Amino acid sequence: GKDKELIRDSWESLGKNKVPHGIVMFTRLFELDPALLSLFNYKTNCGVVPECLSSPEFLEHVTKVMLVIDAAVNHLDDLNSLEDFLLNLGRKHQAIGVKTQSFAVVGEALLYMLQCSLGTGYTAALRQAWLNLYAIVVAAMTRGWAK
Ligand code: HEM
Repeated sequence: GKDKELIRDSWESLGKNKVPHGIVMFTRLFELDPALLSLFNYKTNCGVVPECLSSPEFLEHVTKVMLVIDAAVNHLDDLNSLEDFLLNLGRKHQAIGVKTQSFAVVGEALLYMLQCSLGTGYTAALRQAWLNLYAIVVAAMTRGWAK
């Protein structure tokens, strides 16, 4: 329907290389919750945020996150097929020390990035469509915390 179209069109309009958008998103995330930085083992000069943000480990994770969103956008008609993958991904993040509550902040950072990148294309309907998709991804990952 309309939601899927909004998601697909907006994601495509960000361009082929999603990494710069991911950098905006995670820069915002660490601004909103700097404590999340400590969950990463950034070896290079990671005393201060700007240096963390230019470390290869940071860029690798950003790339991975963008690939997961890409997979979700490409499976809007059969999100169930990502269920096992997302549950395992959640399990890995539990082991890393991520709290499920942090996903709300990640969602805020995602919307912030979309707003920056889409400008006037960032409408209330588009925001809601992305919130709905993000809620499905988070619900699946959160199952990884259950026993
Ligand atoms: C792996 C942290 C959110 C996708 C990792 C790793 C860390 C981490 C420390 C292991 C090192 C690495 O592979 O780079 C976090 C933190 C998050 C967060 C602190 C926010 C609170 C997300 C989200 C997604 C994601 C929202 C995707 C929707 C991945 C993937 C991996 C990963 C695909 C690789 C897993 C594997 O090795 O199989 N994350 N992450 N992360 N993260 Fe995240």
